[in-house]
Amino acid sequence: FEVAWDASAAEKGGWKSFMAKEIAEEPEAVADTLRGRTADGRVILDLGAIDEALLARIERIILVACGTASYAGQTAAYALQQWTRVPVTVELSHEFRYRDPVLDDRVLVISISQSGETMDTLMATRWAHDQGAATLSICNTQGATIPRESDGVLYTHAGPEVAVASTKAFLAQIAALYLFGLQLAQVRGTMGDDAIARVVARLHAVPDAIREAITASECVPTIAHWMADTRAVLFLGRHVDYPVALEGALKLKELAYIQAEGFAAGELKHGPIALIEPGLPVFVLVPSPRDQPLLHAKVISNIQEIRARGARVLAVAEKGDTAVLPFADEVIALPLVHQLMRPFVTVVPLQTFAMELAEAKGLDVDQPRNLAKSVTVE
Ligand code: G6P
Repeated sequence: FEVAWDASAAEKGGWKSFMAKEIAEEPEAVADTLRGRTADGRVILDLGAIDEALLARIERIILVACGTASYAGQTAAYALQQWTRVPVTVELSHEFRYRDPVLDDRVLVISISQSGETMDTLMATRWAHDQGAATLSICNTQGATIPRESDGVLYTHAGPEVAVASTKAFLAQIAALYLFGLQLAQVRGTMGDDAIARVVARLHAVPDAIREAITASECVPTIAHWMADTRAVLFLGRHVDYPVALEGALKLKELAYIQAEGFAAGELKHGPIALIEPGLPVFVLVPSPRDQPLLHAKVISNIQEIRARGARVLAVAEKGDTAVLPFADEVIALPLVHQLMRPFVTVVPLQTFAMELAEAKGLDVDQPRNLAKSVTVE
């Protein structure tokens, strides 16, 4: 008598894939990253050599990363700059040096890396250090090379991420960058105590909002399974949802090997609208009509334009957004959150879509072809 034993299945804890498990773990990844780092409506990070004196004197921040981590940087850059009034730019690690960046000790270079071993990001960090910039690492792996070589480190506590395509680490990276932004705002006095406390409360509400987004994404497998033979998909978003659109497209390329492009919705009329043809699926991340009425109206008009050309509109909208209903083929209705918290919920159906479409095509979602979890060559 033999009991069949599959170690990998056991590690997946009953989930069909590591990716499915890791999406389910997103609420905890964010909660664990926040835990112990706020008290009484304030942020209390220990960033080692990146101390208050340094935070008070920096004049610019550059975020460097690759892949999904770079989209976490692009997403968080909106809040960082708004809260701290320090100019923030985002660079791909492998392009950073070759743009001959202007660096000195008034610049803080923040590297974002789940593994802490991505060679391009390590090289960018070393370069920044050699040019005299201060370096901070946002990393999910204790003691990895990039945090060891940085002046300070802020660990994400997403837990081990096994699936090659990053999911929960993305959300934890945004949460960590938001904590850092609030700490910097505290030091520089760019936000009042009440404003900081409000954002801290919103951050602590994010894990529950992600749970709701996971529930709201239960309609996504059906949509994905209908679309198993789709050859191209577009993603449109604005403001913080623009990098989320890029991430949605990246997930689909990585997992389902489908031509996928993300665009800033405002860019549509400057080129991408030429791609719109009957039947083309277009995910549109619709801003909140309450928080962002002007952007909401603009995106609704984008939807009308693409719908008029026969595209299939998959709207990722806020629950109760009735303006979107007449023009969308499908609506994924997400919980109401403040605009800067939206990426935590809008990315969930896009991750789920890529995973489900890959499965519908019979592909291995945890080990996509040609990809490695951590790219340790330049
Ligand atoms: C690889 C992985 C991606 C990841 C990127 C950056 O390309 O396949 O999922 O986003 O590396 O990895 P890092 O460990 O630096 O966050």
